[in-house]
Amino acid sequence: MRILVLNGPNLNRLGTREPEQYGTRTLAEIEADLAERARALGAELACYQSNHEGGLIDYLQREAGQADGVIINPGAFGHYGLALRDAVADTGLPTVEVHLSNIYAREAFRAHSVIAPVVLGLISGLGWRGYLAALDVLVGVLKERGVQ
Ligand code: DQA
Repeated sequence: MRILVLNGPNLNRLGTREPEQYGTRTLAEIEADLAERARALGAELACYQSNHEGGLIDYLQREAGQADGVIINPGAFGHYGLALRDAVADTGLPTVEVHLSNIYAREAFRAHSVIAPVVLGLISGLGWRGYLAALDVLVGVLKERGVQ
């Protein structure tokens, strides 16, 4: 079982960027936790971050054929990135969208996700734990579907 973990723009700044919104843990620390949990669950992870919508799309197009599921924090692209939404839909893979902050409790423009309609579900407001929850859910769903 192979799962892609994508992070969009500005998420490379986690740890120092607006810690009151996004917490103090770095992306590298979150990815290390995810990798450890994935090992325990018997899944393989591939992590990727880009500040460019095209970078995320290229990665999905390249890797989706060798993957079983996707976890994506699209950052601000989640609110308007239609090309990224199309790329997520095109993978045909079960996908969980993650936002560290509660996008429904902030500025109005954040309360809408254009990705949400093409994913299995969305986790928002649970901080770094949201990524681990997404991994648990995705592995459970994939096992149910018979993916080893
Ligand atoms: C975010 C929420 C987005 O609105 C914002 O643009 C981000 C981070 C989150 O993880 O809470 O970059 O996706």
